[in-house]
Amino acid sequence: TYIVIDACIKCKYTDCVEVCPVDCFYEGENMLVIDPEECIDCGVCEPECPAEAIVPDTEDDKDGKWLKLNTEYAAKWPNITVRKDPPEDADEWSQVKDKLGPHFS
Ligand code: SF4
Ligand code: F3S
Repeated sequence: TYIVIDACIKCKYTDCVEVCPVDCFYEGENMLVIDPEECIDCGVCEPECPAEAIVPDTEDDKDGKWLKLNTEYAAKWPNITVRKDPPEDADEWSQVKDKLGPHFS
């Protein structure tokens, strides 16, 4: 499966949702996640993200943190299938590394 990682936080460009053939993106206030059970591993969303926030789960942290987070929140957040404007400061946030932690609210 593919997963969304912290690079999406406060960027939310949402280009990804337009290309997913199975509509498996879910939207939280600060980021999107993929439902790992619905993702068919096609890979088309990965190059669409300007923030490089989508990766195969083979590139997850050692403890599988992002796969767990995607799984947990895909079950709680609403589905998103239509692109929307990103936050005004998305381009600034796209420069920030390791956004889970001090900046995550
Ligand atoms: Fe959707 Fe394919 Fe991306 Fe999985 S890899 S989230 S199925 S576009
Ligand atoms: Fe996030 Fe990239 Fe999609 S920033 S909303 S994963 S296009």
